[in-house]
Parts: sequence; C-alpha cells; structure tokens
Amino acid sequence: MTAPPVPRHVAIIMDGNGRWAEERGLPRLEGHRAGAKTVRDITTYCRELGVRYLTLYAFSSENWGRPETEVSGLMQLLTDYLKDERATLLKNQIELATIGAVDKLPLVVRALLGAVKEATRGMSGMRLTLALSYGARDEIVRAVRAVAAEVKRGALAVDDIGPEHLEAHLDSAGTPDPDLLIRTSGELRVSNFMLWQIAYSELYVTPVAWPDFSRARLDEAFASYRGRQRRFGLTGAQVAPAGGARGGA
Ligand code: IPE
Ligand code: IPE
Ligand code: MG
Repeated sequence: MTAPPVPRHVAIIMDGNGRWAEERGLPRLEGHRAGAKTVRDITTYCRELGVRYLTLYAFSSENWGRPETEVSGLMQLLTDYLKDERATLLKNQIELATIGAVDKLPLVVRALLGAVKEATRGMSGMRLTLALSYGARDEIVRAVRAVAAEVKRGALAVDDIGPEHLEAHLDSAGTPDPDLLIRTSGELRVSNFMLWQIAYSELYVTPVAWPDFSRARLDEAFASYRGRQRRFGLTGAQVAPAGGARGGA
C-alpha cells in the first residue's frame, strides 16, 4: 500500500505551552520544556512521512515583551535544543534554516544557529525552518526596504515591481509557501505569522496544547488536509474537472 500524500510544506504555530503548565500547577517554563520534546518528535515524524518543509513558530517579535525570566528561560531551552539536536538533524539529513530578526538573539544562540545551519547546509531530507524573533510585518517591512533600495540604485523600475520582487527579499525566500498551517491550543488568530506566505494555506486549528500534540494528532491534521479542495479562486470544476481527487500535496 502506498503512503497517503502529505503536505509539502507544513507550518505550525506552536501555542499553549504556558497554559499547559499552569493547568498542572507547574511554572510556565515547564510547559516550554515539554513543548521542546514535542518539537523533536514532530520534526522526526514529518521527516519520516516525507514532508519537505517544516516551519515552526518558536518565538515572536512580540514575545520579547514577556517577563525577563520567561524570555531567558526560552533562550536557554533554544540553546540546549540546538546543542542536542545537531546530531539528529545530521543523521536525518535535515537542513536547518531560520526566519526572523535573528540578529536580536543572544550571541550564544546566534553562534549555535550559525554552526548548525552551516553543518546542515544543502541537506535534502527536509528543511526545518525555525521562526525566531519573527514578526511577519517586520519581515515585510525589511523586504520593502530592500526593494526600495533596488529602485533607488536604478536596478528596478517602480512599475516593474511585482510579488516576486518582494518574495525574493522575504526571509523565507527559496522556500515554497505553506500548504497547511496548524495552530495548537485553540486560538483563532495568526499572531503576526507569515502574513504574506499563508495567502492560500489551508488552516487547521486544534484545541490540543502543543506539549500534548503528537504523531496521532498530526495524522488527524493531515487527514483533514487531504479532504480539502484547494481552489485558489477558481471553481471546483476547474480544479477537479474529472471529479477527481481532493486535497493531496
Ligand atoms: C507558545 O506557548 C510558545 C511561545 C509563544 C514561546 P505560549 O507560551 O504562548 O503558551 P500560552 O499561550 O501562554 O498557553
Ligand atoms: C504565537 O503565540 C507565537 C508563537 C507560537 C511563538 P503567542 O502566544 O505569542 O500569540 P498570542 O499572544 O496568543 O496572539
Ligand atoms: Mg500563547
């Protein structure tokens, strides 16, 4: 039996770590610690299933406003994650990438990110992109600045500016748009995540908190995705003229 098709690019807003911990009478950081385990498991599972691109929203530009202890705890967890995961990423042929204002991260994190990105560059099993210090509006503003600079130097005419010019300067350049966007822990919002790239992504929100998200829950999300018909503005008959298959990658 052939395996069912999976989305090519899965993006996840990993939410609910704090509430998961608070419900158990634990410090919020314990929720983040449990969430980091889920990251490892879901990354490996996506690789096994043949997902080509996995993007994880790990820390937003707005998350810098959280209490200092939570922010530094998250940075420590990220440091531990990068140290521990390097070997697993290499073994599984997973290329590490980032989107976001990574220059704002602590030096030790930046150094580790640089080293792991370098060690995994060009690996073809899957690309894992971590959204760190990430805000979509910030990403778009930086891209607009870069396009404006091209215009200013005379390399591009204003009337020739198209979506492709903006896309080329987004942090995610070179990675196709997400096919499926999952948000855990129930909130029906996108919280400044990939505003440009999710224009036609399928959305899936589960009430399950990120630390409780599992392989079985990902299977459910993928099953939902397979049942969708992606029409991209066309009619149902246009995209499936023979009354053919739905969803798919
Ligand atoms: C997501 O969990 C992780 C980060 C934003 C870093 P939260 O910490 O937002 O968890 P809740 O939403 O407070 O439960
Ligand atoms: C979004 O979650 C950011 C990450 C998952 C990293 P938040 O918890 O920050 O989002 P809001 O505040 O509920 O919108
Ligand atoms: Mg949250």
